[in-house]
Amino acid sequence: MAALSSNGFSHAAPGPRARTVRFAEVISALTYALDLTEGQRPGHTLRTALIAMRLGEEIGLDAETLGALYYAALLKDAGCSSNAARMAALFGSDDQHVKRDMRLVDWHDRWNLARRTARNCGIGRNPLARIKHFLRVAHTPQMTRDIIAARCERGAQIAVALGFPSASSEAIAHVDEHWCGLGHPVGLAGDEIPLLSRVLLLAQTLEVYWTEHGLKAMLQMLRARSGTWFDPTLVQRVLSWRHDAAWWSTLADSDRLDQAVVALEPGGTPMQATDERLDAIAYAFAAVIDAKTPFTYRHSTNVAQYALGISRQLGASPSLQRDVLRAGLLHDIGKLGVSNRILDKPGRLTEVERAEIQKHPRWTWQILERVDAFAHFASSSSHHHERLDGNGYPWGLRDHQLDFTARVLAIADVYEALTADRPYRAGMPVEKVLGIMLPDRATAFDASMMDAAAQMARDGDFARIAENGTDPAGTLARLSEQRHESHLRAVA
Ligand SMILES: [Fe+2]
Ligand SMILES: [Fe+2]
Repeated sequence: MAALSSNGFSHAAPGPRARTVRFAEVISALTYALDLTEGQRPGHTLRTALIAMRLGEEIGLDAETLGALYYAALLKDAGCSSNAARMAALFGSDDQHVKRDMRLVDWHDRWNLARRTARNCGIGRNPLARIKHFLRVAHTPQMTRDIIAARCERGAQIAVALGFPSASSEAIAHVDEHWCGLGHPVGLAGDEIPLLSRVLLLAQTLEVYWTEHGLKAMLQMLRARSGTWFDPTLVQRVLSWRHDAAWWSTLADSDRLDQAVVALEPGGTPMQATDERLDAIAYAFAAVIDAKTPFTYRHSTNVAQYALGISRQLGASPSLQRDVLRAGLLHDIGKLGVSNRILDKPGRLTEVERAEIQKHPRWTWQILERVDAFAHFASSSSHHHERLDGNGYPWGLRDHQLDFTARVLAIADVYEALTADRPYRAGMPVEKVLGIMLPDRATAFDASMMDAAAQMARDGDFARIAENGTDPAGTLARLSEQRHESHLRAVA
């Protein structure tokens, strides 16, 4: 962790490029962003992975299947952002709160489900608004199925794009199927449900109950849902752990959680975090970020590509260009911690809501700081709303505190936001955008970078970049294809 200054932030110039690290370390560290989106306690995904791997080993899975389970456990919530906007709109409450609370209810108990739903509708609003949201939820056919389907499909797609085994994506796609056949999205029952999905469902539900209510309540929940939610054979296996105090205390040790999970990676040769894999994971998380709200569709990938284009124009070194690209892809990862109730609000934001949104660069910094391979640009990436004259946020830094990456991202971020189409307005034409940005040349924005950006904008370079498939889904599909092609080359 970098040294903190008085405002809680390190302004040191980016350090040297990180050592080569294991890919599992990178993914494990990034799972904290997924926990944030799901409203779960930090470490939820990693604890789920530890539980799933113990269960997988005890039921005798072979090394290859354990490998598939391991990556499925780490990426099980990779699709979590794709239903956040819908959850917030339907419930009229913070999506993270609703997601966390609804994970604790037994959906098959209709009375409790209705009570819990009512409790989560229109939180903090007047009774009439709460009733309206409750009725909207109650009268939305297939709501649970659709919300789960969006999350599972997206998560499975990301696992494929990252080159993980098809058993991993299949496990994610069916993680919410229930043993009794009343789960989603397909309604598979019993042995029809992939075994890894059964393990994952049990592991993640156990984790949520255990952290929220403790061991006794968790064991009660397992017994009550055995044969409805869960495969009874798996439940019996977990019940046998109840006196294993040492194991439960290992699970509770948040300081060693990352290490414990990385150490569990199956297979003789750990997967290294090569440059290609680091790019792939940065693109994958850009897709997770951009899926959070319909207002930011393509935003992260466009910002990254525009910033990369300006950097090339200014002769940045290949290594700096790579950092700019990754820092751009991940600059808004902190938005995963902001409620869609605020991010997607159509009207004017209150002071409190604005302050909430303005926290996202701090989250970006905190998330990227955890990732060894990305920590050296965590500060720069999180400075994308800072301005040379000190009028930016959240730290109000000044020119000498803002490095190349921070400066170029600040320009790319504003340019993208103004030119992109939004659900409520078309993107602004180039000259109008430049008319807004150029007066801030040298006060808010770096002068030479702003000149280069203006030239590129007038030459149509950014428009071409945006057209040439920076769509997150397209990017993921391309990554998947590239991997398939290189695999074919390797076996030819
Ligand atoms: Fe931002
Ligand atoms: Fe942004």
